[in-house]
Amino acid sequence: MSALINFENISRLGGPELTELIEFYEQAETSELFAAANAVREKYYGKKVYFRGLIEFSSYCKNDCYYCGIRCGNKKAVRYRLGHDEIMDCCARGHQLGFRTFVLQSGEDLYYTDDMMCDIVSDIKRGFPDCAVTLSLGEKTKETYKRYFEAGADRYLLRHETATDEHYRQLHPPQMSLENRKQCLYDLKEIGFQVGAGFMVGSPYQTSANLAADLLFLRELEPHMVGIGPFVPHRDTIFANESTGSVKLTLVMLALIRLMLPKVLIPATTALGTVDVKGREKGLKAGANVVMPNLSPVVHRRDYSLYDNKICTGEEAAECLACLSRRIKSAGYDPDFSRGDFITCGEQFAVGRQADF
Ligand code: 5AD
Ligand code: FES
Repeated sequence: MSALINFENISRLGGPELTELIEFYEQAETSELFAAANAVREKYYGKKVYFRGLIEFSSYCKNDCYYCGIRCGNKKAVRYRLGHDEIMDCCARGHQLGFRTFVLQSGEDLYYTDDMMCDIVSDIKRGFPDCAVTLSLGEKTKETYKRYFEAGADRYLLRHETATDEHYRQLHPPQMSLENRKQCLYDLKEIGFQVGAGFMVGSPYQTSANLAADLLFLRELEPHMVGIGPFVPHRDTIFANESTGSVKLTLVMLALIRLMLPKVLIPATTALGTVDVKGREKGLKAGANVVMPNLSPVVHRRDYSLYDNKICTGEEAAECLACLSRRIKSAGYDPDFSRGDFITCGEQFAVGRQADF
């Protein structure tokens, strides 16, 4: 196996070799792997850690993903929606605090029509022209995605969740398909969005071959962002008694993604910080370079409950910001409040609009 630990090789490995590599690092010492991933991140982004202000604006969802606390089948979930002005208020507060990227995330909530979403996006872009807008609203038609883009949205996050058909069916009801999810990601890329994919580590039934397939899919898609975090059970789902994903394996996957896609933007996720108090710091040291503190109103925070024991649900945005900045500095990194676009020579997302780097 040690012959495989030539980090430059990772981009050429096939499925069985990646599976073996993942299984190897699940057991082995990882400091060398994490140091290599950290060095690659540093080569492109230095010690910068980009801040994104997350606005979870609706906990309604029409889908029923088996793992997710806000799935429609969970009758115990408390539902809320923010209106146009409330979302604008979150952005205004965020802008004042220094944020230059807003991530608007929700369940798949049909209440927000395309017109409503486009109004929200264009108002944010008009009110805060120096900011990037990222959407994370789930699967939509290509036409809808085009409208969001034309309204000014810059980026779109849509985790693929797992790149293996059979595993996808074990995590989702029959109405949902991996094929459609992948198509959405390709559509978003073609339209010109900076696109984020990703998956949970340690989700029920997941094998190391599934994780290898996730890496191969990411290599093919070449997303600008990859969000990964450990699976964390939610008490009101059928996976309530499944075990939590391993921190170590999450960090290994994060590092392998950094090595495979050197310039990709990778958040140290809230889920990682939930299962380990130092999880986000460990994520940064394994190659992550983004954090996404919450700008949603504190009264609703607890109700955007995808999994149990989610951290940072009681703090005001300013407190989260101060806490995270402190943590990032003491881990040896520099909090950065610029838009933090994906670095490229431009042609990858030149359709329609030029990013400002
Ligand atoms: N544990 C960890 N992550 C989860 N997500 C949803 N439910 C859970 C859970 N129980 C992740 C999914 C989704 C993202 C918004 O949150 O990957 O895409
Ligand atoms: Fe809402 Fe999966 S439960 S998208």
